[in-house]
Amino acid sequence: MQDEIITLALAKGRLAEQTFDLLEHMGIDCSQPRNPGRQLVLWDEKNRIRFILVKPSDVPTYVDHGVADLGVVGKDTLMEAGRPLYEVLDLTFGKCRLCVAGYAGGGNASVTRATFRVCTKYPNIARSYWGAQGRTIEIIELHGSVELGPVIGLSDVILDIVESGSTLRANGLTVLEEVCDVSARLVCNRVSMKTKRDRIRSLIDGLDEQVRRMNQAMMEA
Ligand code: PRP
Repeated sequence: MQDEIITLALAKGRLAEQTFDLLEHMGIDCSQPRNPGRQLVLWDEKNRIRFILVKPSDVPTYVDHGVADLGVVGKDTLMEAGRPLYEVLDLTFGKCRLCVAGYAGGGNASVTRATFRVCTKYPNIARSYWGAQGRTIEIIELHGSVELGPVIGLSDVILDIVESGSTLRANGLTVLEEVCDVSARLVCNRVSMKTKRDRIRSLIDGLDEQVRRMNQAMMEA
């Protein structure tokens, strides 16, 4: 049904901006969410699309509870949230790597402790990554500037995203292990996928086509 409302949860910032670029090529009006002011619920009324702009880590929460039908979020945030959502499309932008980083050769001599310590914004991923290796670790959860961990002697390594690598370099750290590639993903609520199937399918297909066009244009540039 064309008059069903579709609610889209977007992580504020660059991922949202790049999603608007794709949606606008599909004829969706993103003028309200592009300039939201203090408003948190924005509309393209003609196309019956409602946008909510939220913190990245809250996108899976809104979609899982079904108050948003679709969401755009980084694969890192999605893995950390561990919620039962359908991951329906790799949007291919927002590319970076989730890595273990620290001093090359294991080194901060000032760190002498019994347990292997990891500073990270991703405690759940860290637990499962080292758990799969049968390794016991102590996780220290931080919410930013994670690189400080080894530098200041709080941890042996970090588990964090690396994009250009410049934060690591600036702090004398290096990638020790690559955990996985990260990019923006389109996720869908499981119930919405059934109850609003046609509208959701056409949005997924439209975005898929735009992602292909975007990548084709980048290759030709
Ligand atoms: C992210 C990440 C790294 C940095 C990686 O932090 O946690 O610190 O970007 O990017 P780079 O490889 O291009 O240097 P963010 O900028 O989101 O800030 P935060 O440390 O406050 O989380």
